[in-house]
Amino acid sequence: MTPPLQARFPHLPARVQLVEVSPRDGLQNIAQAIPTSTKVELIERLADAGLTRIEAAAFVSPRWVPQMADGAAVLQGLRPRPGVRYPVLVPNLKGFDTALEAGATEVAIFTAASEEFSRRNTNASIRESLKRLAPVAAAAQALEIPVRGYVSCVAGCPYQGEVTPETVAAVAGELLELGCYEISLGDTIGVGTPGSILPMLEACARRVPLSRLAGHYHDTRGMAVTNIYASLEFGLSTFDTAVAGLGGCPYAPGAAGNVATEDVLYLLQGLGVDTGVDMAKLLAAGQFITAQLGRESASRVARSQASGVPACQ
Ligand code: HMG
Ligand code: MG
Repeated sequence: MTPPLQARFPHLPARVQLVEVSPRDGLQNIAQAIPTSTKVELIERLADAGLTRIEAAAFVSPRWVPQMADGAAVLQGLRPRPGVRYPVLVPNLKGFDTALEAGATEVAIFTAASEEFSRRNTNASIRESLKRLAPVAAAAQALEIPVRGYVSCVAGCPYQGEVTPETVAAVAGELLELGCYEISLGDTIGVGTPGSILPMLEACARRVPLSRLAGHYHDTRGMAVTNIYASLEFGLSTFDTAVAGLGGCPYAPGAAGNVATEDVLYLLQGLGVDTGVDMAKLLAAGQFITAQLGRESASRVARSQASGVPACQ
């Protein structure tokens, strides 16, 4: 049955897919040592809460991102669950091979729409990074391993400033041609507003079907939920989020966390959109990881709950 709001406002989706990125994007930028068992427990709690796509680790150079060095142990610590996918980030064939040996069944490759960010993040120009990723995508296809693609800096770059919608769309189109089943559009430093996100989505939609685009919005300036709502109205129905608003890229100075899963879930519940995620269990997962890290949650919903205001509508 069509939910009541969707019957009156048919452009609103009935269902949204959340891709939980806290175990990778959320933790990669944290300097303190986090035990593998804590990472595993976080992921298990997120899966218990009903999240079905959880980016579990990165198989990048441990010299570049030390926090992700235990990716194999994280994957091996997870209890397989029917219907739950644990993609991992890989930057090159070496990472792909290691990920596969560790049991990965889905990978994500990444590049950028900014030359300078691409160099700082992966020591390669955009063209070089795509060249490096092509054999990863080909190897994955040969093994029927699904590949997701990320484009960073879709609304601006910490080093070079402006990034045009056409540049983002061209890179997204190349990732699609490499065989990515979905392209996640990263506002890496949270500079976008609907004023820049919508033209960027419009340009991307000319190259990639809307159903294969995802929004990955960091919340540096508090715009991420607004950008998600604008993207929903534009026709996107997949969003990357991180419990407790954890996140940031070590090579994007000043970038805050990803948009908090709790806050996006609150928005979607308010719209009657189904996600399959349980708010109480999600809040508990956020409390678990923030307590382990000795940090306050960046989720407004979690904070309001902690101060006694009921979290759910
Ligand atoms: P490089 O230094 O040019 O690579 O780095 P290299 O091939 O010359 O190798 C250097 C050393 O790293 C060698 O070790 C390799 O074996 C090793 P040595 O012989 O010197 O001891 N190495 C590896 N080790 C383990 N796993 C690997 C691997 N590859 C090489 N896969 C490289 C190039 C791409 C490897 C490096 O720049 C890198 O790992 N970068 C990753 C940076 C990163 O993880 N950033 C954060 C994720 S992206 C992100 O957060 C954005 C996103 O969230 C979307 C958004 O918000 O916009 C996705
Ligand atoms: Mg990110």
